[in-house]
Amino acid sequence: MSKIVILVGPPGSGKGTQAEFITKRFGVPQISTGDMLRAAKRSGTLDPKILAIMDSGKLVPDEAIIDLIEKRLVEADTKSGFLLDGFPRTVPQAEALDALLAKKGLKLDAVIQLDVPRELLEERLVNRRTDKTTGKIYHLVYNPPPAGADLEHRADDQPETVKKRQDVYEAQTAALLPYYEAKKLLRRVDGVGKPEEITLRLEAALS
Ligand code: AP5
Repeated sequence: MSKIVILVGPPGSGKGTQAEFITKRFGVPQISTGDMLRAAKRSGTLDPKILAIMDSGKLVPDEAIIDLIEKRLVEADTKSGFLLDGFPRTVPQAEALDALLAKKGLKLDAVIQLDVPRELLEERLVNRRTDKTTGKIYHLVYNPPPAGADLEHRADDQPETVKKRQDVYEAQTAALLPYYEAKKLLRRVDGVGKPEEITLRLEAALS
């Protein structure tokens, strides 16, 4: 049976960090639209207009994102399910996903909302570093990277852009919560505490 899960939460709530647990637990791939866009940036194939939108902290237009997802969901590794991280982010994206799943005869199992108060998020993001080779996520204070690691500091993790991203989340993405609550798919998980504690809460929410 397939397992299809969405992780939703504000920037810095720990979606990428916790995705590792879900992908291992259910043997499904992580599909992160942010990672896909950054991979296109690295390979030089990302439209410069889209890159400018990302770097400013705004959302990429729905059509471009839905197109990315449609292409990704035909790949063979999605047959037994997948974890969506950072998608959908608007109600039109959620509606497009519903239509896509219906066409494939699939159904969403759960939408996990990682709940973290805004005042904790900026500090998490400005201190985030990502290993360029492995993609592993670190925090300079809570989870320091090993010496010699080749690290990336994301262009959108500067304090002003982080604030903008939080505003965008509250204005556009938070509207998804009542959308999924109405469908009885939403499960709230407290995202404050040690990452291992949050993993245990996620496990309980998904069992
Ligand atoms: P995206 O890459 O999706 O970024 P995001 O949603 O803003 O989320 P983040 O990756 O910043 O945070 P996270 O929740 O994964 O936290 P993490 O685990 O890394 O999107 C980037 C941009 O792409 C968007 O702004 C937009 O422009 C575009 N885009 C992407 N998808 C789109 C879509 N669907 N529609 C339109 N545009 C789209 O953790 C953060 C830090 O906290 C790390 O340092 C980590 O070590 C630390 N940490 C994690 N857990 C804990 C803990 N429990 N305690 C302390 N620190 C912790």
